[in-house]
Amino acid sequence: MDRDSWVSNVGFVLAAVGSAAGLGNIWRFPWLTAENGGSAFLVMYLLLVIGVGVPGLLAELVLGRRGRQTPIGALRTLIGSRWGTPLGAFNVITTVVMLSFYSVVGGWILRYTLLAPTGAYFAQPQQYFRHASHGLPAVGFHLLFLTIVAIIVYFGVSRGIERVSKIMLPAVVVLLGGLAIWTATQPNTAAGYAFYLDFDGNYLATHFFDVLGPAAGQALFTLSLGAGAMLTYASYLDEDVSLPRDTLVIAISNTVIGVLAGLVVLPLLFSQGISPGQGGPGALFVALATAFGSLPGGALVATVFFFTVLLAAVTSGISLLETPVATLVDNYGMSRRRATLLMTLVIAVTGSGLALAGPMFRFVSGPVVDVMLTIGLFAFLAIVGWILRQDAVAEFQRGAGRLRGFATPWVLAVSWVLPVVVMFLLTTTLASLASLSLATVMRVAIAVFATLICRTAVTRTTHDDAGYSNR
Ligand code: PHE
Repeated sequence: MDRDSWVSNVGFVLAAVGSAAGLGNIWRFPWLTAENGGSAFLVMYLLLVIGVGVPGLLAELVLGRRGRQTPIGALRTLIGSRWGTPLGAFNVITTVVMLSFYSVVGGWILRYTLLAPTGAYFAQPQQYFRHASHGLPAVGFHLLFLTIVAIIVYFGVSRGIERVSKIMLPAVVVLLGGLAIWTATQPNTAAGYAFYLDFDGNYLATHFFDVLGPAAGQALFTLSLGAGAMLTYASYLDEDVSLPRDTLVIAISNTVIGVLAGLVVLPLLFSQGISPGQGGPGALFVALATAFGSLPGGALVATVFFFTVLLAAVTSGISLLETPVATLVDNYGMSRRRATLLMTLVIAVTGSGLALAGPMFRFVSGPVVDVMLTIGLFAFLAIVGWILRQDAVAEFQRGAGRLRGFATPWVLAVSWVLPVVVMFLLTTTLASLASLSLATVMRVAIAVFATLICRTAVTRTTHDDAGYSNR
């Protein structure tokens, strides 16, 4: 059976930007920015997107197009070892875990969109959010959100995902742009802009490593890295499109959308005298609802705002569902219809569990997802940099035109620098999870050492498995 594929490269890019631009940009980015020194976080985040995100995304796209399958099949073929199956399966599980929590938050957004015209949550935003965010109402809206995502995925790559992304993503950009302009016309926004855009070198110098962890986690999350979703999308690509060019377009567009979201959210909050930095994820719903409640035309703006977030969340959700669904189709010969139904049912259950269990939700949507994405990305880097090398360079260069010359520095960075950086992030996250306060030097040492061990292990295993033929 022929695999589905993108109708055009533009369609792929829009779908990939759609995957990247989501709750991460509009919900996570502003509150992380607010909690981590505003402009200092913005600068660090931008540096990490360029230094780690872009080469990392290229690695994931190279694996997808070279492997021409979903993670399990692609990694098995590419590394020619039985290790491909557990590694690919890890990606697939990551997308299931992610969508379980993502769909719950998507449900909150759906509810906030539908009820914005009534102003239902303006008066007592705190109580309202507490009621809406967990328990049975949250389960209901989670199922609704998931159904929307499932219907799109059911129609497949070209007829479902590509078509929808071509409409939804441009709509997100236009609406966010409009909101940013509207925000600029509001009084008392100066403090918000200053907090966001006036670079404070002092804060960065004193809090460098505190900002590093969240900024790096955000750079991975927002580019959809390490989950295998971008790998899956790239597996539907034509041979002749330029992966480095597409990567740059995806990363830049995604960043623009994130920055735009910040230009809406932060000045609005500041204009209402609300500090966004307290209380994390829920605070944004609460704080924004408070702001919308006191702004002129607040109900209308709230409707447009949450609708925009909803579109962005849907285009990310479909990439998360496509990965496990396409895996069942590719590797287990299931029809897309059955695969979509089955995966939707699974996520309906797991997501409902998270919607009912508050503390579990926080644990999964924070540290668990961070750790899974970091491990996933580390594996991709190891495969590209340590196993494929020349093949990866060839895949990079295919159709790359003038960007061909970047292949060598890229593969060097992917083999020697990025694994250590990503391992450092993993160490930092794990240490903070275990409430260990490891000094920076210590974490660097662990990162270098662990990377070397992994490298030795990988080179040994591929050597041993050299005779293993696939199937
Ligand atoms: N990038 C998405 C966002 O910013 C989240 C995501 C991560 C989607 C990984 C798919 C895979 O919301």
